Amino acid sequence: MKIMVVGGGGREHAIIKKLKQSPEIETIYALPGNAGMEGEAVLVPIGAKDIDAIVTFAVENEIEYAVVAPDDPLVLGAVDRLNAVGIPCFGPTANAAIIEGSKIFSKNLMKKYGIPTAAYETFDDSGKAIAYLDSLNQYPTVIKADGLALGKGVIIAQTREEAVDAIHSMMEDKLFGSSGCRVVIEEFLTGPEVSVLAFTDGKTVKPMVSSMDHKRALDHDEGLNTGGMGTVAPNPYYTDEVAAVCMETIFLPTIHAMNAEGRTFRGCLYFGLMITPNGPKVIEYNCRFGDPETQVVLPLLKSDLFTVMKATTNGTLAETEVAFADGAACCVIVASQGYPQKYQSGFPLAVPADTENEYSFVAGAKKNEEGVTVSAGGRVVGVTAVRPTLKEAVEAAYARVTSVSLENGFYRRDIGKRALAAKNDK
Ligand code: AMP
Ligand code: GLY
Repeated sequence: MKIMVVGGGGREHAIIKKLKQSPEIETIYALPGNAGMEGEAVLVPIGAKDIDAIVTFAVENEIEYAVVAPDDPLVLGAVDRLNAVGIPCFGPTANAAIIEGSKIFSKNLMKKYGIPTAAYETFDDSGKAIAYLDSLNQYPTVIKADGLALGKGVIIAQTREEAVDAIHSMMEDKLFGSSGCRVVIEEFLTGPEVSVLAFTDGKTVKPMVSSMDHKRALDHDEGLNTGGMGTVAPNPYYTDEVAAVCMETIFLPTIHAMNAEGRTFRGCLYFGLMITPNGPKVIEYNCRFGDPETQVVLPLLKSDLFTVMKATTNGTLAETEVAFADGAACCVIVASQGYPQKYQSGFPLAVPADTENEYSFVAGAKKNEEGVTVSAGGRVVGVTAVRPTLKEAVEAAYARVTSVSLENGFYRRDIGKRALAAKNDK
């Protein structure tokens, strides 16, 4: 079969590597992909948000199945448009992708259906938002832009001044464009965070192995929030007991709620959870695979990814096996110095070749005029190692990262540290 993957980062590279293992797939096109995927996918220079061009390409090239990986094209309706020309897709339609596209939608959904989440109020007027802050007078407090903001639309304000600044920059200075016209102000929760990606066909939900992201740029969770600087799987805080509670109080109720709203969700639903002293609560939903969660989750998947993806499309997930290996995985991201703010690109990039249990997932690379592969983006490459234990996986990932050659690259030295400490607690 000829299939295409929309997107161009490390997550998409992990998806492509896994799909390559499927005997049914002949050719994978990546739109736009990146230079690090050459040899594994045919790169097509069409941006992930250019829905018209994506549909035209798919029709002209007789694409038989499409995987739409990033949030933007999903929220913009890429799946709806591809379905309309008869191309089956992995990923939700726009009316279901709103679960990530609008935080106000997702918060109201959780309230309506009793799904545990932080207490909140929503505002479209900055004066009222500030009056609400003053009525609570409780810090830290959390301010979120309603729409998509590249993972940067969440401010944890430690003081009234920070909170007021956040509201002004989102609602008046339009730091995130129209995404910040409306905001959510919510209760600050505490506890370890867990990412759970789940396959669903709208009837059955099959969670993947749990993972832990490391969102801050610097060691000891210092520095700015990023898209994610590394991951481990499984997440030691996600015990069997917690998993059972999540299935009962969060996963199934969310699937049912979306159906009840006439917004059946199919694809990968990402549950960003916090294990609070009062039980697991939803911090956020994403309508897609996480990045870099995918880079530790898919290497542990034993089942054929393409078979599972098609089952979410066809409604046959209940009969389809989704099995994971027993071991652990660690992914360390190498980013450009300065990320997530200003950084330079264009430095020659060399990554170690894959082995049976180690991978390089390239997130940002292009060929320069001399034909040399160079960095192109904030996050440049993620190296993943799979081992029987988490400790071994972390050590192997750090051994491997020393073989990445990137002049202005930096990486965190403490990916997996918190997870290992939690394991030793038990
Ligand atoms: P989000 O983009 O919604 O995942 O938020 C980014 C990060 O902000 C999360 O991973 C949490 O670490 C933090 N965060 C978001 N909401 C809350 C909350 N209500 N309480 C505490 N931390 C939060
Ligand atoms: N790693 C967090 C996300 O994909 O949103």
